[in-house]
Amino acid sequence: MTTPIDATATPAWADLTTRADGFEPDLRAWFAEDPNRVARLTFDLADLRVDLSKNLVDAGILDALLALAAQVDLTAHRDAMFRGDHINTSEDRAVLHTALRRPAGAQPALVVDGQDIDTDVQTVLTAMSAFAGRVRSGEWVGITGKKVTHVVNIGIGGSDLGPAMISAALEPYATAGIQARFVSNIDPFDLAHKTKDLDPETTLFVVASKTFTTLETLTNARLARTWLWAGLEASGAIDGSDDARTDAVAHHFVAVSTALDKVAAFGIDPTNAFGFWDWVGGRYSVDSAIGLALMIELGPDAFRDLLAGFHAVDEHFANEPLESNVPVLMGLLNVWYTNFLGAQSHAVLPYAQQLSRFAAYLQQLTMESNGKSVRWDGSPVTSDTGEIFWGEPGTNGQHAFYQLIHQGTRLIPADFIGFVNPAYPLADDGRDVHGLFLANFLAQTKALAFGKTAAEVEAEGTTGALVAARTFPGNRPTTSIFAPSLTPKVLGELIALYEQITFTQGVIWGINSFDQWGVELGKQLALQIAPAVEGDEAATAAQDASTQALLAYYRDHRA
Ligand code: F6P
Repeated sequence: MTTPIDATATPAWADLTTRADGFEPDLRAWFAEDPNRVARLTFDLADLRVDLSKNLVDAGILDALLALAAQVDLTAHRDAMFRGDHINTSEDRAVLHTALRRPAGAQPALVVDGQDIDTDVQTVLTAMSAFAGRVRSGEWVGITGKKVTHVVNIGIGGSDLGPAMISAALEPYATAGIQARFVSNIDPFDLAHKTKDLDPETTLFVVASKTFTTLETLTNARLARTWLWAGLEASGAIDGSDDARTDAVAHHFVAVSTALDKVAAFGIDPTNAFGFWDWVGGRYSVDSAIGLALMIELGPDAFRDLLAGFHAVDEHFANEPLESNVPVLMGLLNVWYTNFLGAQSHAVLPYAQQLSRFAAYLQQLTMESNGKSVRWDGSPVTSDTGEIFWGEPGTNGQHAFYQLIHQGTRLIPADFIGFVNPAYPLADDGRDVHGLFLANFLAQTKALAFGKTAAEVEAEGTTGALVAARTFPGNRPTTSIFAPSLTPKVLGELIALYEQITFTQGVIWGINSFDQWGVELGKQLALQIAPAVEGDEAATAAQDASTQALLAYYRDHRA
């Protein structure tokens, strides 16, 4: 295990600290003085147009950030990831989600720890495609011979957020008459609500769990199995015999996991199980077999297009010089805001209603990856890490929290994401509604960057205390990401962009972005507290005073 280079001890860090001291950004002046600013800071990354010009950096700051990347050896770490070195040190694993999207026949072949990675990836993709094709065509039927109309993915975290986000984003591509739903929460409302209007005879469950040990997922899978049996028995489709029930599970349950032995133990036929490998982190797994529900809903071709988008960004990240490498630049900007300008959060504001789950997806990707206080050798971090990601689609957010971004006291860098062409073109009295929507995207980024001075407010006739209230300070940093349309390929590009931004920041901070020990304690305690919730006196007595009081409230109010 290498010792991380302490970024805070580099000359570049000292340089950036000096530059941040008394820093007074002035986007109005910078734009006026430098006619090339926009061209210099705009990049094409596959299908994405990325405009960084409204960020709070001048050429000197950007150079210092690039020097920081060089001084922590970012490129060596990046190459180690692509090569399959065990950069996930605490679990002693390679980190190879990038291998999931290498095209068939990519050269040179990737062999890591004796595994022919490319062959294994393509074998699973082929099996998934064949299965998805059978479900979509109606060749695969439920136990009573009916075509599947709904596929319900049962998973949580990385086994839910990616597929759920993409399913919503690519809804216009779901053309085979099959709708995907996603059950994740152990709150029984989730499964009850999502299955309420479904017919067991036409429902297929995909149990998705990397470990196949996750409490929520296994509990929900058992609840789903009970729902299936009860429904089929009530309609007379099956009798209650063990054979009939086993047969029902074989027709209505498939699984995705790295632990295929545990899948078999649950009662799912191993021929209906799709595998992946421990070198795929949960939050990096949507492009593995974890995407099976998507492949069924959207089709194998759309899934391959998604992978092609991921791969295009991987290629750029792996090969582009740092000064024009978009994920590197965006990661460095985040470091600038977090470590030098004191930003604590980062807004992601898609101007696309289909991306309503994108911020939630990014929360796991970025915060489970980089929310760490120790570095990859176990030593304490030397600076702040992991900003808080959040967001909502525009224009909804405009009528909720944008006030704080425009005029509040906190610095909140924001990524705006928009698409030139709508999924559903609609006109309002002859006027293109999507154009109006995008005008809002452009208006917001303009207002945030350039604000409105007191003199401009006064020139409109405002006087007195209202002048200050109506003034916009500007210099609120944004990145604008534009693409022609929200296609599967473009979505793959967007996701990979944020994956590699996350990687870049993790390297600067010297942390292992691929483990998540911070989720373990709560899982252990939930198992210890569960008997107390059920009334066990000894388990109750073992709790702290606050937990005991909450348990007492629970018992008093349980209907
Ligand atoms: O919440 C922790 C976590 O381990 C995530 O990293 C993971 O994506 C999720 O749980 C689900 O895990 P699994 O796919 O093993 O069920």
